[in-house]
Amino acid sequence: MGVYEVKSLEQYFKVYKRSVREPRKFWSKIAEDFVWYKKWDKVLEYRLEEAEVKWFVNGKLNITKNCIDRHLAKRGDKTAIIFEPNDPNEPAEHITYNDLYNRVCKMANVLREQGVEKGDRVCIYLPMIPELAVTVLACARIGAIHSVVFAGFSASALAARIQNCECKMVITSDGGFRGNKTIDLKRIVDDALESCPSVKKVLVVKRTHADISMKQGRDEWLAPLLENASSESIAEVMDAEDPLFILYTSGSTGKPKGMLHTIAGYMIYTAYTFKNVFQYEEKDVFWCTADIGWITGHSYILYGPLANGATTVMFEGVPSYPDFGRFWEVVDKHKVTQFYTAPTAIRALAKESTNWVTKFDLSSLKVLGSVGEPINEEAWHWYNDHVGNKKCPIVDTWWQTETGGLMISPIAFATPTKPTYATLPLPGVQPVLMDDKRNEIEGNQVVGSLCIKFPWPAMARTIWGDHRRYKETYFSAYPGKYFTGDGALRDEVGYYRITGRVDDVVIVSGHNLGTAPIEDAINEHPAVAESAIVGFPHDIKGNALFGFIILKETGETRNRENLTKEINQYISEHIGPIAKLDKIQFVNGLPKTRSGKIMRRILRKIASRDTSNLGDTSTLLNPEVVDDIIENAV
Ligand code: PRX
Repeated sequence: MGVYEVKSLEQYFKVYKRSVREPRKFWSKIAEDFVWYKKWDKVLEYRLEEAEVKWFVNGKLNITKNCIDRHLAKRGDKTAIIFEPNDPNEPAEHITYNDLYNRVCKMANVLREQGVEKGDRVCIYLPMIPELAVTVLACARIGAIHSVVFAGFSASALAARIQNCECKMVITSDGGFRGNKTIDLKRIVDDALESCPSVKKVLVVKRTHADISMKQGRDEWLAPLLENASSESIAEVMDAEDPLFILYTSGSTGKPKGMLHTIAGYMIYTAYTFKNVFQYEEKDVFWCTADIGWITGHSYILYGPLANGATTVMFEGVPSYPDFGRFWEVVDKHKVTQFYTAPTAIRALAKESTNWVTKFDLSSLKVLGSVGEPINEEAWHWYNDHVGNKKCPIVDTWWQTETGGLMISPIAFATPTKPTYATLPLPGVQPVLMDDKRNEIEGNQVVGSLCIKFPWPAMARTIWGDHRRYKETYFSAYPGKYFTGDGALRDEVGYYRITGRVDDVVIVSGHNLGTAPIEDAINEHPAVAESAIVGFPHDIKGNALFGFIILKETGETRNRENLTKEINQYISEHIGPIAKLDKIQFVNGLPKTRSGKIMRRILRKIASRDTSNLGDTSTLLNPEVVDDIIENAV
């Protein structure tokens, strides 16, 4: 990857121009630095109107050879993963590349012995413990497709994800630690599996020592199987375009979308962006605080860092446990050099005393990162002043589950940063802003819908089992272009600032939540007739959820406080606690267009207490409900 390393702004412009002028040559030069069983015949084949893209056509490789095996000669004793447990009194674990090789091979052999074959889907529902990293990589080694489900999702959300891609196996643990709570993961899996006939085996890691039930013939403890497994395992020969993983993301309508990522393009892109954006060097210690259950963890805890032979930190806990100094204690303890987190965490910590930060030595830090939602100016400055001591560039990285890797972001030490701006597209990324008439908006100081007009290697290839939905969601609003669902502005020098979603997805604490599935969950409550969910600004979470709910006659006489609790309980059970509503207003009607569509724009304004200018309401079927809702606002 050395050929296109970026160390200065001047070099960035040079490299960027080359990546646009000759994208095939650009990416194939980068791809040369990886280990292949057989090189590709053609770098790129695509038809964006059809949502069809292939990179490194007919190339053969295995991603674990690139993330583990090839480092062994030079970096066998180097730490690959530092595991920092939830409890600060439990010792951290340093897993070297040699250890990782042995553990992944053993796990790969267990998977094979338990009947998992190339192409099978394996659901991983684990807390942030080393076994999570090991099983993900073991799947990749044998060519099974991993589908990691964040261990905060409920049984029915887990079941929907297992059913959608028909997983053959689930890997879970007896439970998980998160701050002062323990979560009964195995019990949740048991509930989920009542409706998942495809699952034949469940492998269970011991973590909390909770008392759990094991179903005979289906459930097995993992440890004894690993003990007996060989620590050598041949890596499967995979095609560049074979699936690597499925990761579910919320849609603005209907059920979650299983985004499918394929091997070679994803590997090359996450490796290249990791190295450059964070300016990773051999002795650095990189810490991304995300959970591997999200794309950030896939790409920048595991694949990107490991493909570079880096040392990456895996943290089981939360920023507030046992106190608000935990993040900074861990930075100090492991001498972290690059720290990558979400604005919601920064905002929560910025509310606390700065003594929590100054107590620790953060002088190892070189680069800070932000991801998941727009970072507001106040949080940016707090991060810059107190954590970075005004000497660490902040890379505000804009990207998505669908994009696989960072798309618009400063490159540390090269791109001058500007608070709240993701700044410039990375090499190979060609963003455009589109107007309402589907025309590309030229020039600077403009606002529009953010699209990408040329393929990049890590883009998702499809939605599992539903290519039509993939095409409709991402490639039909602006034919021939990938539509991100975000709005953006481009300032006078060409810097991008992401202004937020333009669809019905709300980003709560950095989590992407579709409003439709939450409404579906609420509407199942026997007292609810109809509901509409919108986001509204929240000091710490960025956005929180506001529910406007119409009750059936049967609900009219019920105690509202109890109903509110019950509705949130429904949401917790169907989706997970992250999707609970912060505010509920019971209403008599919802503003609708003549075609019956709820006008969320108006509800968003009411929820944000910004009712001075509601815009055009002339197309409403029932304008009187708007006044009624405003008058009775909670
Ligand atoms: O709205 C954008 C927001 O998060 C969405 C993608 O969410 P998800 O697929 O869960 O991936 C999150 C982690 C990559 C985007 O459409 N978003 C992400 N990063 C930023 C952001 N908004 C503003 N600034 C960012 N840096």
